[in-house]
Amino acid sequence: MKGIILAGGKGTRLYPMTKVVSKQLLALYDKPMIYYPLSILMLADIKDILIISTPKDLPIYRELLGDGSKLGIHFEYVVQNEPRGLADAFILGKEFIGNDSVCLILGDNVFYGQGMTDLLNNAKKQNNGATIFGVPVKNPKAFGVVEFDENYNVLSIEEKPEVPKSNFAVPGLYFYDNDVVEIAENVKPSARGEIEITSVNNEYLKKGNLKVELMRRGIAWLDTGTPQNMLKASSFIEEIQEMQGTYIACLEEIAWRRGFITDDELITLGEELKQTEYGQYILNLVKNERRIK
Ligand code: DAU
Repeated sequence: MKGIILAGGKGTRLYPMTKVVSKQLLALYDKPMIYYPLSILMLADIKDILIISTPKDLPIYRELLGDGSKLGIHFEYVVQNEPRGLADAFILGKEFIGNDSVCLILGDNVFYGQGMTDLLNNAKKQNNGATIFGVPVKNPKAFGVVEFDENYNVLSIEEKPEVPKSNFAVPGLYFYDNDVVEIAENVKPSARGEIEITSVNNEYLKKGNLKVELMRRGIAWLDTGTPQNMLKASSFIEEIQEMQGTYIACLEEIAWRRGFITDDELITLGEELKQTEYGQYILNLVKNERRIK
């Protein structure tokens, strides 16, 4: 399975903060925002990842993340000239996806919590169709929203409805079989002029091939849409890291725990950052593990 991170867009809703810096490069507590969605792909054991961003920002992502070899994975990069819509990811990524299935995650979506890895593994196991998620939120109007019947069968997905039919929003994490490329190529732009991911999902629904998994308590989907929500997300991350002594979205740790890199490679990465708490945390991982063994 291939992975795509969509990290473009104009970020106008966060001006002036995003006037010259891409939203997904801004810090959430101690790391760039894109680390969080990237960590989710890595937790799903996805090692071939395409990063899509604007012509101006893409070189910065390349500078930040490189070719992925230090983390034992592989990154490719593609420019999106205009924010044409989320479904554009599959058109721009057509060659990269090839004959594979694909997981798309939005560069500003942050997930954390117990059961996340199981949820990812189950979604990844579905060989055909699409798997998306539903998360209860207070303000469903701002999202794609799932309509269910009384047995939780999905009846429709609506993009930012005026009158939401449930409080379950669809977060920016989607798993698709290879049909998604053709479906995306045939999506018509919506009233706001975008090729919507919701149209792609409705196409799968029409074919009886859409699964919606509910994320309930235990998994946090953090909103990063406003300065206040970014501050809250940063505080949440700081609090968990402080309280538990374990990091959220430490890419080096995930690469090591997943066996993408060796102890020695992890130590090298920690050494590069050893003047920071982040680097010390990485260096301590190997030491502590050896102490336990
Ligand atoms: O966050 C989940 C929501 O994301 C879903 O519930 C909605 O169904 C989905 O349409 C999307 O809604 P948003 O209005 O939040 O999408 P937005 O236009 O803000 O784009 C989401 C991210 O993707 C943002 O960081 C910018 C980036 N993006 C967006 C577009 C349209 C791109 O990189 N390229 C694009 O063409």
